[in-house]
Amino acid sequence: MRAGGIGPSVRMPLRADAVMALRIDILTLFVEMFDAFCSTSIVGRSVERDLVDVQRTNIRDFATDSYGTVDDAPFGGGVGMVMMYQPVCDAVAHVQSRHPTPGEVILLSPQGAPLKQATVEELAGKDRLILIAGHYEGFDERIRTLADREISIGDFVMSGGEIAAMALADAVIRLQPGALGKDESTHEESFSAGLLEYPHYTRPREIAGMSVPDVLLSGDHARIAAWRLEQAKLRTQQRRPDLWQQYKQQHSNQRDVAPDEGDTPPQEQDRE
Ligand SMILES: C[S@@+](CC[C@H](N)C(=O)[O-])C[C@H]1O[C@@H](n2cnc3c(N)ncnc32)[C@H](O)[C@@H]1O
Repeated sequence: MRAGGIGPSVRMPLRADAVMALRIDILTLFVEMFDAFCSTSIVGRSVERDLVDVQRTNIRDFATDSYGTVDDAPFGGGVGMVMMYQPVCDAVAHVQSRHPTPGEVILLSPQGAPLKQATVEELAGKDRLILIAGHYEGFDERIRTLADREISIGDFVMSGGEIAAMALADAVIRLQPGALGKDESTHEESFSAGLLEYPHYTRPREIAGMSVPDVLLSGDHARIAAWRLEQAKLRTQQRRPDLWQQYKQQHSNQRDVAPDEGDTPPQEQDRE
């Protein structure tokens, strides 16, 4: 897919050197939107600890006129402006020249492949990602040739790709070794095993007439694990029948796939 004189992409399926930080380049017209993102919470901590190097590049710096023009009217007429090929191409070439690893170039676009946790896990193993955030009515179609892939964060349209780039970068950064604290884990999270995560409770045991399920207070780790798995299955069946069907297919050789009692899924809490 890549063209535009930027050179071939070198893909590395897994990070070869565990101490080498992931580098993420973000190409945007609004670099300032990333200030809080890069300095807060898990992303901020990861940047501080050099687990990730997030570099922001303003596409407008690659405009060729003194007005900083990066958009133009669409050929054929119509509303809105179109992001021009040349500034984006030059911005990509510039960031490519700043680092020995060409990186995976990703265009954020509502027309891209819907972002899934499996994609996040794949991208988390790369050495370098280059994220292009669009704006205006859309990209000049030829910009698509600069990218290795297009990713959408959902079936809705935002005014720019910055929030999509942050969503993708956040999901990838929190999977970097050492990014999460000792009390945080990606182990049993939603999607990691093809199921939504089970419900959580914390103190107090009773509040507003609602109590914590007895099993969680039993101290019986095997029963707790079994209850959580059951709840994860029920929750997935109720909320995401598409994921549930996939899970059942993938586990079709196991006898204990269970729930599924008739067409109407039972209520989650009924099943303790
Ligand atoms: C107003 S949108 C353009 C939408 C375009 N007219 C269309 O219908 O496909 C401007 C930019 O926001 C970003 N964007 C909007 N929605 C997005 C989504 N769901 N996922 C990823 N990026 C999105 C893209 O970078 C896009 O180029």
